[in-house]
Amino acid sequence: MQAVIIAGGLGTRLRPLTFNRPKALVPLLNRAQVLHILDRLPKEIDEVLVAVNYMFDRVRDFFREADVGRTVQVIEEPTPLGTGGAVKNVAARLHGTFAVYNGDVIDSLDFTKFLAFHRRRGGPATLALYEVPDPSAFGVVGMEGSRVTRFVEKPAPGEAPSRLINAGHYLFEPEVLDEIPAGREVSMEREVFPALAARSLHGFPFDGYWSDAGTLEGYLNATRILLANGGAAVHPRAKLAKARLDGAVLVPEGAEVSGRLGPDVVLGPRSRVDSATVSNSVLLDGASIEAGAVVRGSIIGEDSSVGPGATVEDSIIGDGVRVRKARRVIQERMA
Ligand code: GTP
Repeated sequence: MQAVIIAGGLGTRLRPLTFNRPKALVPLLNRAQVLHILDRLPKEIDEVLVAVNYMFDRVRDFFREADVGRTVQVIEEPTPLGTGGAVKNVAARLHGTFAVYNGDVIDSLDFTKFLAFHRRRGGPATLALYEVPDPSAFGVVGMEGSRVTRFVEKPAPGEAPSRLINAGHYLFEPEVLDEIPAGREVSMEREVFPALAARSLHGFPFDGYWSDAGTLEGYLNATRILLANGGAAVHPRAKLAKARLDGAVLVPEGAEVSGRLGPDVVLGPRSRVDSATVSNSVLLDGASIEAGAVVRGSIIGEDSSVGPGATVEDSIIGDGVRVRKARRVIQERMA
């Protein structure tokens, strides 16, 4: 069976990190985000098409080097065609029932059960659904039994038909491709699903975990989930001196830590924490946090530094940035 991973968006909500790399290659637990998706694809999927517009060359080159144990074709989309148009763009390569995965979600969906459900219902399309406390930032469905009868993208306050959201995984029969107009930008969420819901669309709720990883909050939540599900580790050759580790952390070989780390912290290789306090944050490769600094709820880009006594909170610091001594950066994007 084939799967299409739609991984070609601009990733504006993770800027400035996505100025320098496509979202699919933003590291999550020190591995490109798209690899976490490939890891969870079951053996039934023997061919993967990765649909990319933004930074196509980077994604193509990445898959030329990475050995992921199955056939991956990276398909260029000359102009951004949206989440629906991206699938239509690869239509000629698809045959039989196929899966579509958004490139920026982390979850525990059991694909085998999802596929069995889709086959039992026998409809043209099935969406995986996940229940969240506040669905307002997502695509929300109204259900009758196992049928999705309404699909509302980012509903206004009080308008959400349920708390079940589109988890970003679909199973389609080829006839769904006829529903997607060719040659223009098409949103799966705003055009294709509302139209299918009026005719035949099924929903498969699953539980376990799910997180979008395309916003700062989602990215840190996905990090926390992955740490809690086997990703936490301290490499025996990491350099720890007067370090206090609290809760789940990932400290790879080559990282150096003194000070307080955790909970929910990932250090990149070559990153350094020097008598500082870091919690609920990710340091990419080569990032350093100087003495007395505090970093919370943030991503620190490659080779960036947070100066002595500085504070960074709820912010994304791009690559190669110097946050000056004693500066306070709160809810900012620094490039
Ligand atoms: P934002 O700019 O932050 O909204 O991110 P995004 O552009 O990636 O959009 P969004 O998170 O809504 O996209 C969901 C998934 O679809 C992601 O995996 C995107 O990479 C992918 N995607 C969005 N738009 C396109 C597109 O025009 N072409 C392709 N191939 N993929 C897309």
